[in-house]
Amino acid sequence: MTLEEDARQFLDDEIKGYLKAVEVELQKHIKSDTKLEEIVSYLLNADGKRLRPALLIIAYKAVGGEEIEEVVPISAAIELIHTATLIHDDINDDNDFRRGQETTNRKYGTLNAIVGGDFLFVQAFRVGGTYPWDVIRMIADACRELAEGEVIQNSNRYNTGETYEIYQEIIRMKTASLITGSLKVGCYLGGGSEEAIQAMADYGYGIGMIFQITDDILDVEGDVEKTGKPLGSDIREGQLTILAIRALETLPDEERDELAGILSRVEHSEEEVGRALDLIKSTDAVEYAYEQTHHYADVCRQALEHLPESDYRDRLELGIGVIMTRNY
Ligand code: IPE
Ligand code: IPE
Ligand code: MG
Ligand code: MG
Repeated sequence: MTLEEDARQFLDDEIKGYLKAVEVELQKHIKSDTKLEEIVSYLLNADGKRLRPALLIIAYKAVGGEEIEEVVPISAAIELIHTATLIHDDINDDNDFRRGQETTNRKYGTLNAIVGGDFLFVQAFRVGGTYPWDVIRMIADACRELAEGEVIQNSNRYNTGETYEIYQEIIRMKTASLITGSLKVGCYLGGGSEEAIQAMADYGYGIGMIFQITDDILDVEGDVEKTGKPLGSDIREGQLTILAIRALETLPDEERDELAGILSRVEHSEEEVGRALDLIKSTDAVEYAYEQTHHYADVCRQALEHLPESDYRDRLELGIGVIMTRNY
C-alpha cells in the first residue's frame, strides 16, 4: 500500500464524518458579542489537521465505544485547548506565520492573542467540566505538562550545550502530553480497561515524540507551501532540536563553532539562518532524526499489542507510518 492510501485509511470517511461533527461543536464554543470571536476563529478555522480529536475518537472506538455523541464535545474541547496553545506558542516563539497565514499575534496584536488563547482555554474547560473527574484530571495534567515543557524549553533557548535527553524531555512534555491525554480520554470514555488506558498512553507517547521530531525535520527541509510555517524558525528562536544537537556533535570543529555561534545569538540575519540550515543539512542530522522515529515506532507497536484487535487498532498502527512520513 502507498503512503497516500495508508493516510486515507488512517483517517477514512468514517473518521472524517465524526470530525465533521466535531467541527460543528467547535463553532458553538467560540461565540462572543465582542471581537474575541473573530480573533479566535481566525486560527481555529484555518485548516488544522485535527489530529488530536481524530486520535481521541479512534481510541474510543478501539475499545468498543459506541455513542459517538459522547465524545464529540470532549474532542472539540481538546482541539480548543490545542488552538489556545498554538496562539500562545506563537507569542512565545515570536512567529510570523502558521497554517499559511499571519499568526494571531501579528494580525490582532499580542494582547488580543493572549486573551484569545485564554478564552479558548476557558471555553474548553466549560465543556470538559461536564465530564467525569478522571477525564478532567487527564486533560488538566496534560495542559500542565505542556506548559511546563514550554517553560523548560524557554530556559534552554540558545543553550548549545542542550543534550538529547533534555530535548526528549521537552518534546515529551510540550507535544506528547496532549496527544497522550487525547488517547487516554477516548479510551477511558469508551470503557477501556486500565491496561488499555496504559497502552494508549504508551502509544500516545511514541506518536507524540514522532510527531515533534518530524515537525523539527520539517523546519529544516519542509515544503513551506504544505507546512504553512517558514523554514528555520527553530534557528531564529534559538531552539536546539535533535537536528541541531546532532549537527553540533558531528560537524568539524570550525563549522561546529560557526553553527554554535549562530544558535547562541538572539538576533540573526536571514543569511545566518540560511547558513545554519546549510550546516545542519551538510551532516546526517535529518537521517539521524528519522532513525530516532523508528525507535518510537517500536514503542507504539508494542503498546498496540496490549489492545484488542480491531479495525480501529489497525488505524492506529497505520497512523505510525503516516506520522513518520508526514510532509505537513
Ligand atoms: C503544531 O501542531 C504544534 C506541534 C506540536 C508541532 P499540529 O501540527 O497538530 O498543528 P495543526 O493543528 O495541524 O496546525
Ligand atoms: C509546539 O511546539 C508545541 C506547543 C506546545 C504548541 P513548537 O513551537 O515547536 O511548534 P510550532 O513549530 O510552533 O508549531
Ligand atoms: Mg512554535
Ligand atoms: Mg514553541
